[in-house]
Amino acid sequence: MTNADFEKIVDTSDEWIITRTGIKERRIADNSITTSDMSVAACRQAMDMAGCSNDEIELLITGTVTPDYRLPSNACVVQEKMGLPNAAAFDILAACAGFLGGLSIAQSYIETGKYKKILVVGVEKLSSFTNYKDRNTCVLFGDAAGAVVLEASEESSGIISTFVKSDGRYRTLLWSEIGGSLHPHQQGVDPLGRDKIMMNGSDVFKVAVREMANAAARVIKDAGLTSSDIALFIPHQANIRIMEALAKRLHISMDRVFKNIDRYGNTSAASVPLALDEANRQGRIKPGDHIVMVAFGGGLIWGSALVKW
Ligand code: UT7
Repeated sequence: MTNADFEKIVDTSDEWIITRTGIKERRIADNSITTSDMSVAACRQAMDMAGCSNDEIELLITGTVTPDYRLPSNACVVQEKMGLPNAAAFDILAACAGFLGGLSIAQSYIETGKYKKILVVGVEKLSSFTNYKDRNTCVLFGDAAGAVVLEASEESSGIISTFVKSDGRYRTLLWSEIGGSLHPHQQGVDPLGRDKIMMNGSDVFKVAVREMANAAARVIKDAGLTSSDIALFIPHQANIRIMEALAKRLHISMDRVFKNIDRYGNTSAASVPLALDEANRQGRIKPGDHIVMVAFGGGLIWGSALVKW
């Protein structure tokens, strides 16, 4: 969907969307394509790249706020569709930080020796959860999936440090009020759009900049490095102005910040693995490089990971 498509359905303009967010297009999945379908496609590509067979996967973690069903988890649907006979599978609900939350859990499982091969997926079909009458939010979101295979290794490369933090006092800045146990879904669509994503964008913006900068600084410090040692920063693609403010706080230039928000918009939990994959395929990450991924989302929750490639 282009910005011109949105000009036809809400009171907005290509110029406003580009200057305020950096977004030009987003990908919207067909009605027939589900979150689990997108997850399977991403998992297959990650497993092909890693040369990994289905029976080797011992754990599948999905970060998503848009599973196919309320019950069971997206991960269990993906397990069945892919055929992962030796895996445990579960979802985590950490919104846009879902992939980094999953990475942090996977790192801990691998470090304790419990599992050797883990699939982590960040996936969203946000188009199913977006209020296309609300110009404050609808122009921002897109659908996507990204996945990685993590494995135990004696090498010095890999995940060096991760960090996750949340603050539930901010929970109504980015939320969906209707559809949980407090206000169960009634038949039909809520006229106020409270069953879809609702956001106080400018307040989220401020916390996002502050806490993404803190989270990135934290993993860099924990690894005994400084921001000048980081070859590439891969932030959650929520807004180009958030990424610019983050770069300023970290005293780095924008050429070390990976951006693809112009083509995908904000894809929540899929945003970081999607950007990681594009950065890798474009040759932006070389063996031995240190990279920092950092994300932020509804909860509010934020997380980061420092990886030696
Ligand atoms: O992914 C999870 C985390 N999410 C985020 O990090 C999102 C963080 N927030 C943002 O990216 C930005 O706050 C937004 C892009 C959502 C909004 O940008 P902003 O510069 O903070 O704008 P605003 O919300 O302060 O709104 C400014 C004006 C308002 O008009 P008035 O009240 O000044 O007359 C809005 O009604 O812009 C208006 N506006 C729009 N105008 C045209 C809001 N959305 C639109 C729109 N088109 N789509």
